[in-house]
Amino acid sequence: MKKHAIYPGSFDPLTQGHINLVERALAIFEQVTVAVFINMKKPSVFDLEERVKMIEKVFKDNPRVKVDQFGGLLVDYVAKRPNAIVMRGIRTNGDFEYELAVAQANRHLSPKFETIFMMTDPQYSFLSSSMIREIVGLGGSTNGMLPAFIEQALKERLLEKGKTTRS
Ligand code: PNS
Repeated sequence: MKKHAIYPGSFDPLTQGHINLVERALAIFEQVTVAVFINMKKPSVFDLEERVKMIEKVFKDNPRVKVDQFGGLLVDYVAKRPNAIVMRGIRTNGDFEYELAVAQANRHLSPKFETIFMMTDPQYSFLSSSMIREIVGLGGSTNGMLPAFIEQALKERLLEKGKTTRS
């Protein structure tokens, strides 16, 4: 029996949709690890350390939520945690098609690899980190789409500094 869900992603930044998924996963799994992917090729607004600290702050009162980081193949990260299963959120048909291919590729790489999909709560089905970055970057309001302190940090980063970093 798998008691541990690994929730991998970029989380640039963490949204209410991600948080909702973690909270619902805690009703199914004893432990949820939010695993932030170290992607040296993709520019990010927040660097890896910033993203990890933000996620830790959001879940600081829940000892069943851990925050970690990984580089390289997800199958290699998961292979070191045999009690774990990977969880991904599905918002749309497009997500499903993409995530199905990724899940199949991961099983091709590692036949014991399992992915569980959780359907995003309808109120968050339109939300994505990239959409939030675009709205904030163009001066719009993302109130309720992400934690207020992350929204503030994003505004400062995109509007005041205009900075883009790599993770
Ligand atoms: O939040 P994202 O950007 O949709 O997350 C995608 C992520 C990080 C889960 C996915 O790109 C991933 O697992 N990357 C690790 C590298 C890997 O294993 N690639 C092969 C399967 S695509």
